[in-house]
Amino acid sequence: MTSQHADVDNCGPIFKSGSVPERYTITSALPYANGPVHIGHLAGVYVPADIYARYLRSKGRDVIFIGGSDEHGVPITIKARKQDTTPQAIVDHYHGLIKESFEKFGISFDIYSRTSSSMHAATASEFFKTLYDKGCFIEKTSWQYYDEENKQFLADRYITGTCPRCNSEGAYGDQCEKCGSSLSPDELIDPRSAISGNAPVKKETKHWYLPLDRYEEFLREWILKGHEKDWRTNVYGQCKSWIDGGLQPRAVTRDLDWGVPLPLPHTEGKVLYVWFDAPIGYISATKELLPDAWEKYWKDEKTKLVHFIGKDNIVFHCIIFPCMLKAEGSYLLPDNVPANEFLNLEGDKISTSRNWAVWLHEYLDDFPGKQDVLRYVLTANAPESKDNDFTWKDFQARNNNELLAVFGNFVNRTVVLTHKYFEGKVPSATAYTQADKTTLEEMCAYPGKIAESLENYRFREALNEMMNLARLGNKYLTDNEPWKVFKTDPERVKTVLNVSLQIAAHLSVLCQPFLPFTAEKLCRILNMSPLGWDEACRAELLSGGHTLNPAEFLFEKIEDETIQKQIDKLQATKEANLKNALPAFEPQKAAVSFDDFGRIDLRVAQIVAAEKVAKTKKLLKLTLNTGLDTRIVVSGIAEYYGPEEVIGKKVCLLANLEPKNLKGIESHGMLLLSENPDGKLCFVEPSPQAEVGMQIR
Ligand code: MF3
Ligand code: ZN
Repeated sequence: MTSQHADVDNCGPIFKSGSVPERYTITSALPYANGPVHIGHLAGVYVPADIYARYLRSKGRDVIFIGGSDEHGVPITIKARKQDTTPQAIVDHYHGLIKESFEKFGISFDIYSRTSSSMHAATASEFFKTLYDKGCFIEKTSWQYYDEENKQFLADRYITGTCPRCNSEGAYGDQCEKCGSSLSPDELIDPRSAISGNAPVKKETKHWYLPLDRYEEFLREWILKGHEKDWRTNVYGQCKSWIDGGLQPRAVTRDLDWGVPLPLPHTEGKVLYVWFDAPIGYISATKELLPDAWEKYWKDEKTKLVHFIGKDNIVFHCIIFPCMLKAEGSYLLPDNVPANEFLNLEGDKISTSRNWAVWLHEYLDDFPGKQDVLRYVLTANAPESKDNDFTWKDFQARNNNELLAVFGNFVNRTVVLTHKYFEGKVPSATAYTQADKTTLEEMCAYPGKIAESLENYRFREALNEMMNLARLGNKYLTDNEPWKVFKTDPERVKTVLNVSLQIAAHLSVLCQPFLPFTAEKLCRILNMSPLGWDEACRAELLSGGHTLNPAEFLFEKIEDETIQKQIDKLQATKEANLKNALPAFEPQKAAVSFDDFGRIDLRVAQIVAAEKVAKTKKLLKLTLNTGLDTRIVVSGIAEYYGPEEVIGKKVCLLANLEPKNLKGIESHGMLLLSENPDGKLCFVEPSPQAEVGMQIR
């Protein structure tokens, strides 16, 4: 069905020839089924995608909205190994939990599927086979890291080490989470197996690569020339820097036992790379949903394909997946990829491993029936063009000062007064003032205004406009004071409440994409069935004499205590994290007597010369001035200090330790060293005023 309201439709982005698409395929990134979902997921992907899908359905457009769990990839197998269970058991558990959370938040997927399904395995292997048969891949044998103890190749997150870009430890073979760089296993410094912790060996293995470099011209034309105007600047910018940086062939297979098996002979133990199979999951899910009609949603030129994702998924959805689709040849390319930036929580990056998140299943327990409040806050504060911060105080303020004080208060006053003065029946308007007419005109402009923002993926702006309609209503009531006027001019109150009720009815239509539960309640209160978007272009949605249902509260005040509980919960997480971060200390040694301690001669000394001890990694040969003599001490600090750095340093010397031969050098004493949290050693240094030879007691 296409709309009669050409003025509204023309506000949207120009699709192909400027026409309205015949149908929409809306996808939302498939979350990994290795943990529950949190507010970052909702804000970044699922709420905006849901708003878009709901809006288009309300416009009467033909829409499919696709979701599902991403059930392959190394983190899932690592988790299974840690918990001594199978990857399938892990994904079964989280798929169920995630699916339920989304349902409860009203994310209106037409299907929520999963990539461990047999339909997906068939679709993904067929896709691979098509590309293989067309000669789209390069075959390459190379030496890759291998864990000999576990007899396993170490792909992606199975290998960890120090990041070559930012030097932080714990970077993975595919990415450093600290600085966000994409990495390859060979770049890691001091690589280790994530399974055994052992240093890996290298072993030969064959893989298939998609030569992205061959698609550079296509990508330049399609993205850089074709989508400069309509894609978000963050998305366009990332694509441009990938393309300008020079694209490389990408391996699309892995040596793993969890994933879609390669559909080629003699390739046991090899599977499709998770980022090759996962986006094909959108197609598998569509096939599952519409076994006979799926193709037109992926192949017909009149379909508009839109991917909702987070910013860490941009390269996969804008470069790699499109190259796969292009290589295959019969598929559409996405028309837009509205990626969001990240949402932080109370000033800190959301982190699953640090449990720094608001988990959706916990929110549902703590705030039953308040799904729309979270949807509202996450949209009002959506990280559309920069990272944003979720705070509980802001959550409370937006509920109490916006949803409750404006939207809820307006609807409640209108409905309560209608019951009070007119037995719950919509009064007919008697005579409109100029101000009434202006208000009604303004009201009728909102569907078009909000639609324009939504068609351009500006969800915060759209939500704000929707709230402006509620503000208009609230102000109209306050300006006209029907509760005062009724005593002197009940006829006038008929008009005022009629206008207010029309605004409330318009709100029920226009808030539906954002606040579906509230829309439903509002329809119930107004005793109307849900209307389509374009019907809200008419001024009169409720006719005189129509009977309302009793008033109900749309929103409730959220008290300080409730918010404090959430803040306390996060504080407890923070403290637990700090405690866990402390290193495990050696137990205290057995007591020594005062006399024994008294026999120790500790004093201040100064390093006057230093050199590395040949053929050792750790030892420095130091010449010390002790105030009593000049002597040689060998110290195990060469990994942390160069010889030139230590000369002139004052140090703490255990002076009367019996001499010891170290690598052929007689060492006369020992220097005190202290350990840093990262295991590095450094000299214990006396105060700058201490003079050489002075006692340490
Ligand atoms: N699981 C990925 C993530 O959470 C997203 C996959 S999107 C799809 O980052 F392309 F695979 F579908
Ligand atoms: Zn890094």
